Amino acid sequence: MKENFLIEGLGGKYSLSGEIKIGGAKNAALKVMASSILFEDGIRLGNVPEIEDVYRMNELLSDMGAKVKKEAPHKYSIDASALKHSDLDYQLSKRMRASIVLTGPLLGRRKKVSFPHPGGCVIGARPIDLFLEGFKKMGAKIKVKDKRYVITAPEGGLRGMEMFFGLQSVTATETFMMAATLAKGKTILKNCAMEPEIKSLADYLSACGAKIKGAGGTTIEIEGGGLLKSGGGTYETVPDRIEAGSFLILGACAGKKLSITNCRPEHFEALIGVLRELGAKIEVGKNKVVVRGGPLKVPEPEYQVKTHEYPGLATDLQAPLVVLLTQAEGESRIHETIFEGRLAYTQDLVKMGANITMWDSNRATIKGKTPLRGKELEGPDIRAGLAFVIAAIVAEGRSIISNVYLIDRGYENVEKRLSAVGVKIKRTANR
Ligand code: EPZ
Repeated sequence: MKENFLIEGLGGKYSLSGEIKIGGAKNAALKVMASSILFEDGIRLGNVPEIEDVYRMNELLSDMGAKVKKEAPHKYSIDASALKHSDLDYQLSKRMRASIVLTGPLLGRRKKVSFPHPGGCVIGARPIDLFLEGFKKMGAKIKVKDKRYVITAPEGGLRGMEMFFGLQSVTATETFMMAATLAKGKTILKNCAMEPEIKSLADYLSACGAKIKGAGGTTIEIEGGGLLKSGGGTYETVPDRIEAGSFLILGACAGKKLSITNCRPEHFEALIGVLRELGAKIEVGKNKVVVRGGPLKVPEPEYQVKTHEYPGLATDLQAPLVVLLTQAEGESRIHETIFEGRLAYTQDLVKMGANITMWDSNRATIKGKTPLRGKELEGPDIRAGLAFVIAAIVAEGRSIISNVYLIDRGYENVEKRLSAVGVKIKRTANR
């Protein structure tokens, strides 16, 4: 059943107050779930966000014969020690890019994997050339049959290799870090992505017997060995820096005093810097940030905000940040450097009253401050979906946001958490 969010906007008032607790990171939990395939025993995860992508990953693993159990809310156990096959379900893989990270552990363990080109948010071409190149370097053979890649490890299993990634890729770094733990010999990965979720995964795998050095930096060395052993310990999912950053932006646009708790502010330092340049009042504590809304101003002519690989400004925060820039006095530019096609949602902000001119698919100018008016909106992807929620809260009047499934893919129980701080938001069924 399709659902909508009905939001009554605040019309530019700064009135939200209270606390929003941050959950575990989607993009950490999904990868650790995939890592269950590297283990001779079952693994346990805590602080898992109750979101649609986690449920899809459960379904993908269960379809291959893994035993996935929800022990309690936010607590899961997964035993993938006796898989029946390693062919990723077509429909499920098409719904989520993260499905691609299963390919590394599956090829390492089962010596064969087949999968369709992964789906996920439509934010650019999202090729998989780095994955295919890496698997070939590990000695694997690649065929394409019936719209599926069929990859087979060499006789005797995957071999360690050295690879320089042509560009920093989060899921490619994670996939090869995991494949290499089951390969023979040493793997050296260069120009790796440095996102905190990668380090968190590496720390967990290392605690369970993997030999991984350098994760969190650009060169990672992995000494291959056998299967890992969890020994009954629990992986605690690192807090979601994108969720924290998005709610921080909401607070800067519409907060009286909003506390974002259970987060790691050092994971979104770049965003805090940009918001402060724009005049946002932010206090940073150890595991929380407190933000007070108020007038914002672009600090200088031709002010430019650019997305960047971690530790730079996350592309996943770009859409919420553009909503905020529509509310700042002055002219600013946004430059999306990671994905082409991730600014298409700005057309809807223009319909709400924003003054945004796109120069090409990656760059736009925003002239603020413009009042926004409530509209009917359809979230195009997870992050732009939440940006529309923020825009609707800032706007005057009522907005209807359809395609709430996309928001549910990445954020747990948004309406309940936002209602608690004063947002007038209701989930309704689509008639
Ligand atoms: C991860 O996607 C995240 N997804 C994305 O979050 C996030 O936006 C992105 O990293 C960047 O931070 C998951 O972790 C599941 P990339 P990923 O490979 O790994 C190009 C969300 O909403 N590339 O780091 O798919 C690619 O096209 C999502 O949670 C190749 O050219 O991103 C892009 O331009 C959206 N060839 C760049 O690399 C390849 O083989 C970086 O993408 C692989 C990637």
